[in-house]
Amino acid sequence: MVTNNLVQISKDGEVAVITVNNPPVNALSLGLPEGIAEAIESIAADNQVKTAVLIGAGKTFVAGADIKEFGKITSGERRGSELVQLLLKMEDCRKPLVAAIHGTAFGGGLELAMAAHYRVANPGAQVGQPEVKLGIIPGAGGTQRLPRLAGVAKAVEMCAEGNPVKASDALQFGILDRLIEGDLRAGAIEFAHEIAAKPALKTRERNEKLGTPEQNAPIFAAARQNACHKQRGMVAPLAAIDAVEAATLMRFEQGCEFERNRFIECLFSEQSKALIHVFFGEREVAKIPDVAKETPVLPLAAAAVIGAGTMGGGIAMVFANAGIPVLLKEVDRAALDRGLANIRKNYANSVSKGRLTQQFVDERLNLIQPTLSFDGFSAVDMVVEAVFEGMELKKQVFAELDRVCKPGAILASNTSTLNIDEIASSTSRPEFVIGTHFFSPANVMRLLEIVRGRASSKEVIATCMQLSKKLGKVGVLVGNCMGFVGNRMFGPYRREAQFLVEEGAGVEAVDKALFDFGMAMGPLATGDLAGLDVGRRIRKEYHQQDPNVRQPFAEDKLCELGRFGQKTGAGWYKYDEQRRAEPDPAVPVLLREWSEKAGIPQRTISSDEIVERCIYALVNEGARILEQGYALRATDIDIIFLYGYGFPAYRGGPMWHADRVGLKKVYHRVSEFHRQFGALWEPAPLLEQLAVHGRTFSDFQTGRGVAA
Ligand code: 3HC
Ligand code: NAI
Repeated sequence: MVTNNLVQISKDGEVAVITVNNPPVNALSLGLPEGIAEAIESIAADNQVKTAVLIGAGKTFVAGADIKEFGKITSGERRGSELVQLLLKMEDCRKPLVAAIHGTAFGGGLELAMAAHYRVANPGAQVGQPEVKLGIIPGAGGTQRLPRLAGVAKAVEMCAEGNPVKASDALQFGILDRLIEGDLRAGAIEFAHEIAAKPALKTRERNEKLGTPEQNAPIFAAARQNACHKQRGMVAPLAAIDAVEAATLMRFEQGCEFERNRFIECLFSEQSKALIHVFFGEREVAKIPDVAKETPVLPLAAAAVIGAGTMGGGIAMVFANAGIPVLLKEVDRAALDRGLANIRKNYANSVSKGRLTQQFVDERLNLIQPTLSFDGFSAVDMVVEAVFEGMELKKQVFAELDRVCKPGAILASNTSTLNIDEIASSTSRPEFVIGTHFFSPANVMRLLEIVRGRASSKEVIATCMQLSKKLGKVGVLVGNCMGFVGNRMFGPYRREAQFLVEEGAGVEAVDKALFDFGMAMGPLATGDLAGLDVGRRIRKEYHQQDPNVRQPFAEDKLCELGRFGQKTGAGWYKYDEQRRAEPDPAVPVLLREWSEKAGIPQRTISSDEIVERCIYALVNEGARILEQGYALRATDIDIIFLYGYGFPAYRGGPMWHADRVGLKKVYHRVSEFHRQFGALWEPAPLLEQLAVHGRTFSDFQTGRGVAA
């Protein structure tokens, strides 16, 4: 029996099975709620049916509302309340309904399951209300039904933080009624027989877990404090907490109305548009126009890392965490021991914080095999080189790797500035050479820039893109230019931060303006963290020759005083033993002295100017990168900044942000800065062109692959 092409009904004796079938994730697209509603009606009218199971076809139950259709609600084309009506109809059905969950029951999917009278799941299933990650809150009673099943504390955590919950935990919290090992459909039908004669419990009438105002007050206070800290600047988490609170204070219908109003407010917000852009962007970056989805990938069962320093150690951990055995090679015993001690310390920290179990850590450590020789390299499928940054050394290492590694092994460099093609030229197999630019700390940061060399083969690119997922990273393909995409843009951003303090802005004022904008850290504090000497070394190597172009000097001068940042206890700030920052009164005095000598007039600088100078410097360079084809799409640049540089996700990334501000306005400000500050602010031709034609970065397509 078919209700529509998205929903099918079959029968197993007295149990009807409603199957939703909307690949790939059974999202509740137009027609699906209507199809389920029809199915419920036909079951209610069928005297042979005593009870029903609701199950998903394919790899998952229902992963939520169809995010692509939100635009139809904001444009007024749809009201989007079909789901709410369906859920009431399900709850009111006299015949008990059992939701059978595999894969994920997320968002509207969990809301659907909670309107059934019982829920069973495979042990591998997950449930969650991840809406806040899209800048919205549950919109079909999730904030009202979840506290009735799971209790207020768990519901507020799930709705405000949006993280998935494993089936075994969901069972414990009362969200699920049973776990079913093996065949879910058969197990759910058996369960349905068991409960057929029992009354159909409506979740909306189960008030026993809603607590008292006295019990709930500290839960909501703690949740709000947590949201302000961990999801700083985001509107949706606070709205979700308000809505769960409404469940404890109002009747169900009123609570639903409260939730609905907050849902709509959030859906219309800029934050939600930005976060939905990020959701699809994260998936889009995996698509490379000239590397087809079907491109064969190379085997990747064993790896090696050269250099056990800051990056190499972290990269070895990343492979081990993904279950891939990894050789870790160093030049001498002392460096190897130092590297291993750091790895152990890192893991021990995670265990002490309860993030990993000792057993997991022991298993991972066993996968990391330290070595001082190339023995075993002939068996690995990929090597990541992370030795000191220097072309001669890298070429030497790659020539050696070419000699010892088997044909077909991928040779990758973690270089942050060097030319991949030149490195590849030291091997006989440039098509197997590629850049894999991890970010520090490599075992934490989710970004992986995959740098395409001129000769890198499509198979090698496809393998690295797939590997990034396996390693828990977001891989973004970039072209081979100085600094690649992220660091090339970050340069002008940090340059402006220095210029601003040289012109009279306070160190803390610069950092605060960008922190308040939403950056994870201010640019000067970031410099202290990375080490001011790192930038100085790069500036020395790539010295800007033109004496007419202004260059920042403050960080170089701080370095001359031995102030390298956190590692020396002082940089832009001073630091105690625990590396806690404190403003250093010596710094403004030094800055005034240096600026006076350089003849830079001092003035009061507003926080708006601070943000515009730093962020538009990013955007202007991003426009050049896009035009030159070193990034495939503006979205790719956005994703790089979200996962590698702490740009606030609720602003969608620098290019999305510029689009929302309006490129005309951005171009106008960049042109003003150009007049005021000179050549470094020359507007990127693409920015000018798009602004003049009223277009956006989002609708600009380079139409070609990433330039190598
Ligand atoms: N709506 C529309 N498309 C969706 C979608 C959704 N809810 N969820 C996933 N997709 C699409 C993806 O964009 C992707 O499309 P593509 O192949 O064209 O790139 C495809 O489905 C497969 O998705 P993934 O690549 O993410 O597949 P995975 O297997 O890695 O992950 C998943 C599956 C865990 C379900 C993950 O896709 C996910 O987390 N989805 C979003 C879940 C979510 O946020 N749900 C809440 C929606 S809002 C809501 O329900 C409001 C309600 O309260 C009214
Ligand atoms: P590091 O100085 O901490 O470690 C380099 C290690 O390589 C040292 O332990 C050294 O003994 C070892 N080494 C040198 N020559 C070797 C050889 N021939 N064989 C084996 N080991 C050798 O350096 P770090 O910071 O880990 O940088 C490594 C690479 O990663 C560089 O190319 C750097 O540009 C890049 N990178 C660094 C980032 C950072 O934040 N530190 C971020 C992203 C990339």
